[in-house]
Amino acid sequence: MPNDIFEFIDDQTSKLSTRQLDNQTINTSIDASNSPNVGSWKVLIADDEPSIHDITTLALKDIRYKDKPIQFLHAYSGTETIEILTQHPDIALLLLDVVMETDDSGLQAVDAIRNQLNNHAIRIILRTGQPGHAPELDVIQKYDINDYKEKTELTAKKLFTTVYTALRCYNDIVRLEQNRKGLEKIINATSDIFRLQSMEQLVSGVLMQVMSIIGTDDDAFYGHAAHFSTPRSTDSDANDMVIISGTGRYEFMLNKPINQVLSADVVCDINLAYREKRNVFTDKSCIVYLKNNSLIYIDGYKKLNKLEHSLLDIFSANVTVAFENIELNDEILETQKEVILTLGSTTEFRSNETGNHISRVSEMSKKLASLAGLSDEDAELLRMASPMHDVGKIGIPDNILLKPDKLTEEEYEIMKTHTTIGYDLLKHSSRPIFKAAATIAHQHQEKWDGSGYPQGLSGSNIHIFGRITSIVDVFDALSSSRCYKDAWSADDIKEYFHSQKNKHFDPQLVDIFMHNFDSFIDFRQSLGDDS
Ligand code: C2E
Ligand code: SIN
Ligand code: SIN
Ligand code: SIN
Ligand code: FE
Repeated sequence: MPNDIFEFIDDQTSKLSTRQLDNQTINTSIDASNSPNVGSWKVLIADDEPSIHDITTLALKDIRYKDKPIQFLHAYSGTETIEILTQHPDIALLLLDVVMETDDSGLQAVDAIRNQLNNHAIRIILRTGQPGHAPELDVIQKYDINDYKEKTELTAKKLFTTVYTALRCYNDIVRLEQNRKGLEKIINATSDIFRLQSMEQLVSGVLMQVMSIIGTDDDAFYGHAAHFSTPRSTDSDANDMVIISGTGRYEFMLNKPINQVLSADVVCDINLAYREKRNVFTDKSCIVYLKNNSLIYIDGYKKLNKLEHSLLDIFSANVTVAFENIELNDEILETQKEVILTLGSTTEFRSNETGNHISRVSEMSKKLASLAGLSDEDAELLRMASPMHDVGKIGIPDNILLKPDKLTEEEYEIMKTHTTIGYDLLKHSSRPIFKAAATIAHQHQEKWDGSGYPQGLSGSNIHIFGRITSIVDVFDALSSSRCYKDAWSADDIKEYFHSQKNKHFDPQLVDIFMHNFDSFIDFRQSLGDDS
């Protein structure tokens, strides 16, 4: 044993500081070698001298920080150090020898860790037996290491406190990083609240944030009880709560009711939190109540300090505001949808287009949009906006709109103005749905070859929403009887679309539509055929 390298002599100062730590949290009575690998701090010892590994392990084996023991990993060269760190990016601390296979292989390893592996969280303590080789100040500044010790300086107790401090420091860094990521998600969610995925993003951001405040990476989920839209509901238990977002073992249980995945006593604790609208911490779990009939559930007991409690309080309050923003936005969106459908149907009633023409066009335009490869968001936007394509018929006099015969040329000219009337009604709004609806009202009667109205646009100058709506509008008009005409047979309709490919309609869209013709016929039936 090279006792000259580690002096196992208790000097007064290290005894004192270790005893202070003892009185706080270190539990020195548990043998780390019996502890499981999960839930431990990984410490890598890199030294070409095998005895250093033994001594270090012996000196540190009893450390517990935050109730977790150390798991040791061993490297005997700079190259091996980098290999192990590539496989274990979650190593908390590296005790690193400077001189191994070369005079500066330790320093080169530091350079690779920070600059190639991009690992800035790991704490690095450099240990050298030959101080002349690497002057302390220079090295700390140049190589981004956290501490520098000459081996002769490191008594067992000093090593103990140094490592303890480094673990605390690593833990803080990881927590801060988690915190930053959680906040980033929340900020993204809040600035993206017009996007369809926003509630999911917010929810997973909230989950990460709470886990980082509590300082855990355990199994956890964000649950939400279904009757959140009726806050006055007297039904105040969480039995119908489902998992909205989860980590660990809950990651693959989305939309599952909690009473299918949790034991009865845990559901009981959740009910308590839910009923009394407060956080509940038991010896099995940790439940953070988040208002809006939502809460975060985390497996396992966590002893929280005052600071963590108040962080959770502040956080829940902020989160409530974020949810309210999103709910408000959802409500605006719902209102818009209602206004749009209502507006759309007024013409439906007036022109005796019996039944569901408007909602059929809406659903079928979304279907065709998806088949044509538009994004889910655009397809949904089209679904919401297309019901207004004929809203301008509001401005067409009854004697023309309801005429049971063919229109005269003059009447047809008036009829055509339903496109510009609709556009003028809708164009003033800056809201995406109304903007899309204005474009569709304006362009749904344009034709691919430029012979349509009102602007005579052609080809891809006609907005894709207009081209799609035109196909499903004509398809539905031909499939229905009108005051001026009977419904057409499926074969006649098919033939018409073939003959109008490149003339009335976008040829690519016609191909897609024809390819799926039977499924559109079925889909239309399922939406309420009225002929
Ligand atoms: P709509 O009934 O919703 O028809 C929309 C479009 O479907 C029509 O645009 C047309 O492209 C197609 N379409 C509908 N029925 C037939 C048909 O029997 N044969 C053919 N080849 N295509 C058909 P269009 O022609 O610009 O008409 C716009 C709107 O003008 C129609 O909306 C309807 O409200 C009205 N309309 C058109 N023709 C007549 C008519 O002869 N009598 C009456 N009372 N209204 C008409
Ligand atoms: C360390 O990383 O070795 C300790 C740094 C600190 O406690 O600030
Ligand atoms: C949801 O509707 O998906 C969650 C809403 C909430 O938690 O407030
Ligand atoms: C959208 O979801 O794109 C429409 C949002 C809005 O109009 O408020
Ligand atoms: Fe029209």
